[in-house]
Amino acid sequence: MKKSKAKVSRKPAKKNAEVAARTNPPRIAIAIMAAGKGTRLKSQIPKVLHEVGGKPLLEHVIRAAARVLSATDVYAIIGHEAESVRAAMQHTGVNFVLQPEQRGTGHALMVAGEALARHDHVIVLSGDAPLITPETISHLLEFHLAQRAAMTLLSADLDNPTGYGRVLRKNSRSAEVQAIVEEKSASPPQRKIHEINSGFYAFAVKDLYAHIGRLSTDNPHSEYYLTDMAAVLRRAGKRVVAWKTPNPGEVLGGNTRAELADIDHFLRMAKVDQLMTDGVTIFYPATCVIDADVSIATDTVVEPYVQLLGNTRIGTGCRVRSYSVIRDCEIGDNVTIRPGCVMEDSRVGAGALLGPYSHLRPGSDIGEGAHVGNFVETKKMKLGKRSKANHLTYLGDAEIGSGVNIGAGTITCNYDGLHKHMTLIDDGVFVGSDATLVAPVRVGKGAYIGAGSCITDDVPEDGLAIGRARQIIKEGWARQKRAEKTATSRS
Ligand code: UD1
Ligand code: CA
Repeated sequence: MKKSKAKVSRKPAKKNAEVAARTNPPRIAIAIMAAGKGTRLKSQIPKVLHEVGGKPLLEHVIRAAARVLSATDVYAIIGHEAESVRAAMQHTGVNFVLQPEQRGTGHALMVAGEALARHDHVIVLSGDAPLITPETISHLLEFHLAQRAAMTLLSADLDNPTGYGRVLRKNSRSAEVQAIVEEKSASPPQRKIHEINSGFYAFAVKDLYAHIGRLSTDNPHSEYYLTDMAAVLRRAGKRVVAWKTPNPGEVLGGNTRAELADIDHFLRMAKVDQLMTDGVTIFYPATCVIDADVSIATDTVVEPYVQLLGNTRIGTGCRVRSYSVIRDCEIGDNVTIRPGCVMEDSRVGAGALLGPYSHLRPGSDIGEGAHVGNFVETKKMKLGKRSKANHLTYLGDAEIGSGVNIGAGTITCNYDGLHKHMTLIDDGVFVGSDATLVAPVRVGKGAYIGAGSCITDDVPEDGLAIGRARQIIKEGWARQKRAEKTATSRS
């Protein structure tokens, strides 16, 4: 009787809802729980700032969320080390909700009540589960809306469900859920269930906040569990359903260092696979560390044990040899980077040749076809086209033209203990070995600097500067010295 009544009253309601949804789409928010300490990591750094694939856990989740909704509808719930988490995530443009005391996942949603009040539905994500994709978030939302549920949880079948909450379904064929039971409170038969609660949910905001006050802390952690909302809402006669994802890999959480390493490995392998599909050769890919935002054009070869980090972009036909660590660099086409180079925030023109063991510090701009060789350190400088600095050199705060030869051991003395000064070297200059250029100083076009010179004054175009003591010869001096030594040892 009750059933048929519900059926009759449902149809027109559904129609009305459809009309309403078309004219007045539901207002959706995403809340990301990110306030926990992460006790199992035994770390000074808050859990959600631990990195996988070169980015904090939370940033992965925020990025996925911000591809489903605008960042202004995304709320990160922060608490433990809130200010450092806020500072690290400010650039994403999401909102922050403070959970000053961390009294459980249910409590995290309690404190977000005010912020979520102007929305109809909220998708809840975990800040420590970074593999979630925008597609899965969208599926969860669609399923939730289509089911007209008060609560929809994303579940997954895991071969090893240990540590996760288990989903208790009404029966095996129904989408409806009775309850979620946490591992610690589960009975032995419940622990045998492989369908786990992923920690991702969708809630009707009204239903959630009408009943969230019924959560209790009567559990082994004495916390408010968001998972208990399943049983609470069911008892209130609300519809609670589960949608099982076909991609269980996306639900993995980084609660321990071992889990973080697994997730990192997964992301790194996905990245190198994608690059290889796109036409990049990578030898021994498992040894290379390549961040998600790195781009590499076709026919570039990456040798074993290379790290390409941050926003590095590499052109076509390059070769990056072993043991180079490159962060935030823009590298043109056909560049060769020999082993052991360390490069940061620098630009390298097409056809340039670097290394082995070059150190490009931030602000280095290496021109097309230029050479930077072994044990050469550069910083805030420009080296023009086809110029060469091949051996044992420091070039900082310098502007060097094209076709310049910088001899072995050349040093720009850019720092006087208080200020930095510029060294300007015009096109076609030849700097002999072991020159020290005391900045500020300018060497004019086509000039020569004699080896071993200490250059303190500007050198005019096409001139020769020699700044060293004149050599003197003392004939027979060594012979005489040896004779004196023999005489004293005899006496
Ligand atoms: C939680 C679920 C479990 C599920 C698992 C999936 C509960 C009680 N259990 O367990 O059913 O299988 O996720 O990964 O929810 N957080 C806060 N404020 C708090 C406590 C936690 O924001 O007061 C945040 C954490 O920073 C974390 C997320 O909530 O990002 C989940 O908390 P965590 O302690 O990792 O829960 P699990 O034990 O993994
Ligand atoms: Ca977790």
